[in-house]
This record gives sequence, C-alpha cells and structure tokens, in this order.
Amino acid sequence: MTNGRPKRMTVPRLRAAKGGDPLVCLTAYTAPIARLLDPLVDMLLVGDSVGMVVYGMPDTVAVDLETMIRHGRAVAGAADRALVVVDLPFGSYEASPQQAFHSAARVLAETGAAAVKLEGGVAMAETIAFLSARGIPVVGHVGMTPQAVNMFGGFGARGRAPEEARRIAADADAVAAAGAFAIVVEGTIETLAEEITERVAVPTIGIGASPRCDGQILVTDDLLGLIPEFTPPFVRKYADLAGTVRAAAEAYGEDVRNRRFPGPDHVYKAEVRKTGGKT
Ligand code: KIV
Repeated sequence: MTNGRPKRMTVPRLRAAKGGDPLVCLTAYTAPIARLLDPLVDMLLVGDSVGMVVYGMPDTVAVDLETMIRHGRAVAGAADRALVVVDLPFGSYEASPQQAFHSAARVLAETGAAAVKLEGGVAMAETIAFLSARGIPVVGHVGMTPQAVNMFGGFGARGRAPEEARRIAADADAVAAAGAFAIVVEGTIETLAEEITERVAVPTIGIGASPRCDGQILVTDDLLGLIPEFTPPFVRKYADLAGTVRAAAEAYGEDVRNRRFPGPDHVYKAEVRKTGGKT
C-alpha cells in the first residue's frame, strides 16, 4: 500500500501472481468505465472486442490500430492502479516481428499502457521473443483466437479433438517460452485449460476456460448485461444494465412528454442562486 492506496499493478507483479490468488481482469474501452473498474481489478484489457461491443462489428477482424490507440489512451489515462494492456488488432503484427514492434511501440508510446496482447501460438513465438527482448511486455492469447474467426468458421470451443488440444498446448508452451508474461486462454475445453495452467510458468487468464486458471477475464459489457441480444455460454451476468437503461429512458420519455422534465431545479433562473453551484 502507498498512502492507503493499493500499489499499482506492474508486469513483474502480475507475472509473480502465478499460482496465487486468482487475478481479476476485465475489458474497458472508455475513460468512465476504466475509472470505475480501476480500483477493483488487477488488469484492464482494452480488447479489440471494442469493434463488436462499441462499434457493432460482426467480429474483430476490421478493427484498426488507430482505434486501439484511441481507446487505449482513454483507458490508460483514467487508470492509476490496474495494469493496462492493449490488444494489437488483426493485420498490425502478423507480417513480421518488425511490423509488430512498430505497432506495439506506437501503442505503448501513444497510450501510456504497460503491455500489448496478441493472438497466436507457435507462429507468433518469434515475434513475442522479438518484442520482449526490446522492452515490450506481451500477453499471449491461445485457444479460440477471435481474429482467426474466418479459419475457425465461428466462435465455438476449441480443443475437443485430441490433435487440436495438442496443438493448443504446444501454442501455450511456445508463447510462454518466447517470453509472454501472461497468457489468455480462451474458449477451450476445461481440461485443456487446466493442463496449460499446470505446464506454463506464467499466469493463465481464462475466458470460457476453467476456474483453475490463474485469473479470469470477461468482456465487461457481457457481465453488466448490456448486450441482451447474445450472451456467450461462459458469461455470468452480474447485472441487467440493459433493463436499467430501458427503464431509465422510458421514465425520461414519460417525463418529457408530460412536461415533468426539466423541473424547477434543472433550469437557469435570471437571478444567480447562492447555493448549489448552479449559475
Ligand atoms: O478482445 C477482447 O476483449 C479479448 C478478451 C475477450 C480476452 O481478447
């Protein structure tokens, strides 16, 4: 603790959490949500899920680097305790380690985030080693990797076939050996997520994986019940904000139509009030 506040989460502290108390991680895309979540979580991920959640895209494939930098800056600027990690979007890192370095360096320099996340296993190991050796901390992401949706043909669970499970375990090994300081394990059968958690020396952060991962992450809008059209099977809704938003908008509409809003307290009077701060 510093001055009564918990210490800022850093890359070495998060890495050292392997096998300890579960890490609590959520996505954030905007400053107000980051400010609310910052004291409550260990890691805030500016996920490329921003494309689907905020911009209504069907998947994450069309999200670009400028979008990630814009949202990364908003979140990193609002968080002073959680570790802020920004996703490298599809097409900004796969071509070469040099391309990945250029994109990741922009993300860190222009947002103030501490680390980047990128998807892929064995094929990305050289890139992860290149970035890690040059001062860019990397979170890996294996299993159901949404940027490869066109290869998978959907967002279903991975690793049911033994050969695919072996490939995903090898991906996790390669990413950890290359220097990733944590690994998101997404949408795998539970036993595979547990096997990966046992074999890698860095924390695994599960989503649709296993309670035995070293941490958990969810898309915040899913957990808040803000996306009523679709809830992935691995999500537990902790609130029904869609219902709250609807009820609030309905009440506002009723008040406006019946001239109950604005009320006497919500208008400027000719005379300046002495209290209340309104002029
Ligand atoms: O983009 C994202 O939000 C993610 C998490 C679901 C892990 O990658």
